Amino acid sequence: MSDLQKKNAGEAAAAYVEAGMVVGLGTGSTAAWFVKALAARNLPDLRCVPTSERTADLARELGLTLSTLEDTPRIDLTVDGADEIGPGLALIKGGGAALLREKLVWEASARCICIADAAKVVPALGTFPLPIEVVAFGHKTTANRIADVLADHDIAAPARVREAERGLIRTDGGNLIYDAACKLIADPARLAADLKSLTGVVEHGLFLDLTDLAIIGTDEGVETINP
Ligand code: 5RP
Repeated sequence: MSDLQKKNAGEAAAAYVEAGMVVGLGTGSTAAWFVKALAARNLPDLRCVPTSERTADLARELGLTLSTLEDTPRIDLTVDGADEIGPGLALIKGGGAALLREKLVWEASARCICIADAAKVVPALGTFPLPIEVVAFGHKTTANRIADVLADHDIAAPARVREAERGLIRTDGGNLIYDAACKLIADPARLAADLKSLTGVVEHGLFLDLTDLAIIGTDEGVETINP
C-alpha cells in the first residue's frame, strides 16, 4: 500500500537528521511523513527550510523552527519526494507544483535524500508528465517554444497548462505549470538543457545528479538505492 510505503520512507529518512542541522523540507505526501517524523524526534537546534508554503504550514503547526534560504543559505540535508526515480537516481519532480523552490533548496544542500513509495522507481523517465514552470506573461508563446524543443526530442504531444476547476494553477512564486507527456525521455540531460535555455521557462522538473541516496518504502520497511 503506497501510503504505508511513503510513511516507512519518511520515517527512515528522519533518522539521518542530527541535532543542530539545517534541514531542507520537501513537498508532497511522502515529504509530509518525513516532516512529521522529524518533528517527533524533537532534536535540539534544528532549523528547517521549507520548499513550499504548505510544507511551511505543516512544519510550523508541528513546532519545527523555520528558516529561509536567505538566512541559512547552506543546508546540511534535504529530504524530498519524487514523481519518478530513474537510472542513476535521475528524477522527475514537480507533481506538487513546488519544483522551483525545491530545486533551489536541493542545490543549496550538502546532501539530498529522495524518499518515495516503490511505484516511483522506473526503468526510464517520462511516463509521469514532466512539469515545466513558466512565467505567466506570454505563456502561450513560451508553450510554442517548449513544443518545438519537445518535437526535437521526438516528443509529439505538446505540453498542457495545469489547471483546476477554479482556473490555472499558480505556483508559490505566481508562475504557471505546463506538463509534458513525454512518454519516454531518451536523453534527460539534453532535454533539461534545452528547456532551461528557453525564455519564459523558469525551471523544469528534471532533477539530475542531485540525489545522494534514495530511500524507497516497502510494505515491510525500506530499501536504499545509491546513484
Ligand atoms: C512536489 C514534488 C513531490 O515531491 C512529488 O510530486 C511527489 O509527491 P508525493 O510524495 O505526494 O507522491 O515534487 O513538487
